[in-house]
Amino acid sequence: MKKDRRILVIDDEQAFCRMLDLVLADNGYEVRIETDSARAVQQFRPGSFDLVITDVKMPVLDGLGVLRGIKARDAAVPVLMMTAHATVDMSIRALRDGAFDMLTKPFEPDELLHRVVNALKQSELIEENKELRQELARQGQFPDIIGQDRQFLAVLDTARKLAQRDISVLISGESGTGKELVARAIHRHSSRKGQPFVAINCGALPETLLESELFGHRKGAFTGADQDKKGLLEAADQGTLLLDEVGNLPMRVQKTLLRFLQEKEFYRVGESQPTRVDVRILSATNADVKEQIKQGSFREDLYFRLAMVDLHLPALRQRRTDIPLLAHYFLEEQNRRFASRVRGIAPEVMEILLQHGWPGNVRELRNVIDAGLAIESGDMLSADVIARLLQVEERQEGPALTDDDYGVALARFEQGYFARLLQQSDGNVENAARKAGVNLATFYRKIKKYALRA
Ligand SMILES: Nc1ncnc2c1ncn2[C@@H]1O[C@H](COP(=O)(O)OP(=O)(O)OP(=O)(O)O)[C@@H](O)[C@H]1O
Ligand SMILES: [Mg+2]
Repeated sequence: MKKDRRILVIDDEQAFCRMLDLVLADNGYEVRIETDSARAVQQFRPGSFDLVITDVKMPVLDGLGVLRGIKARDAAVPVLMMTAHATVDMSIRALRDGAFDMLTKPFEPDELLHRVVNALKQSELIEENKELRQELARQGQFPDIIGQDRQFLAVLDTARKLAQRDISVLISGESGTGKELVARAIHRHSSRKGQPFVAINCGALPETLLESELFGHRKGAFTGADQDKKGLLEAADQGTLLLDEVGNLPMRVQKTLLRFLQEKEFYRVGESQPTRVDVRILSATNADVKEQIKQGSFREDLYFRLAMVDLHLPALRQRRTDIPLLAHYFLEEQNRRFASRVRGIAPEVMEILLQHGWPGNVRELRNVIDAGLAIESGDMLSADVIARLLQVEERQEGPALTDDDYGVALARFEQGYFARLLQQSDGNVENAARKAGVNLATFYRKIKKYALRA
């Protein structure tokens, strides 16, 4: 069983590495030694090792940095930390960040082997569980929603449970986090599947048009209404209606909608007979509706009807372990669709993807991968191509920028985001960088770029 298990050893001390190599190789493990921790992390590919053993005290990138870097790329691989002087504080941090175990130097070979066997056993279990989960996922759960982040999975789990109950759910989250995807999944897993799923963007239409779109109208109700028209509520009868960007609902429509939710019936515009329908209402928003309630632009009573449960989807930068998973998923999807030749994603590209802030969340990642595949001429998605797509610094100096240029939008977002983080961390750059999930060097570059003050 031990055969063919691959172990990555990271320690800046050559002699110590050789000793570990001897002991482990002697026991049938395949060992790879790295004395440069930063490079080890950079080149690390998910699934390439069954165990990582790393020293804690190393120059440039220390053991905690290694741990975070590895876990960001492969959340499942166990990491064993070795240190000569483990403080309680350090150990707690390491274990909280996902370290499997701590080994105190010096140790006997038997001690090492014992811990290695344990760690590998654990990773086998995790692997089995993962397969089981994937199996379950394929058996008609949410197969098209990708993620492994614990918080994200918990949200999906709640969504699955809610799907069965016929209640209103408000799905909140930044743009591109998958709100519509989740809404559709809820519908597909409810008893209303097979009935219509209808979505309306509440922010896209002026008030009167929105009203007639939702509730329909009677011939002659207003100029241009030259025949009776059913609204989307009727179109969604027996099914599900998604009120997208629900925070933009005009006050008057909020009132009519509330009445419908209370009475299960409504009036087409210009009609005096009520219409009854049976529709489950889901809503989505990237605005802070609770804040809108405080400011008086959203009715609290309507909120409680719409948000019997409030499902919040985390931003992509708050679940970076999902980035490699999603990137590969989009790559494979594109390959299937266009039979393209790009086989994979170069490790240094993954590094760039992991560091990026993703203000447009999963949609932005998908766009970058799709565009990258379209222009990539090699057989791996290369840093060149991705950098060109993400490289906003250079584009910003170009002359013909429009206000909705991607780079400008990103810069505006980043400036505010990093400034806020700095403020929240009382100017402590290290803390701010950790919160943002980027490395210190990146954070300093942003400080310089946006002339922020630490
Ligand atoms: N977890 C995920 N797995 C796979 N694809 C995803 C995931 N999350 C989002 N996507 C994809 O990203 C894109 C954006 O998702 P979606 O339209 O659901 O976002 P949204 O939150 O409704 O955005 P907006 O607020 O801008 O309307 C879609 O192409 C969707 O399929
Ligand atoms: Mg949407």
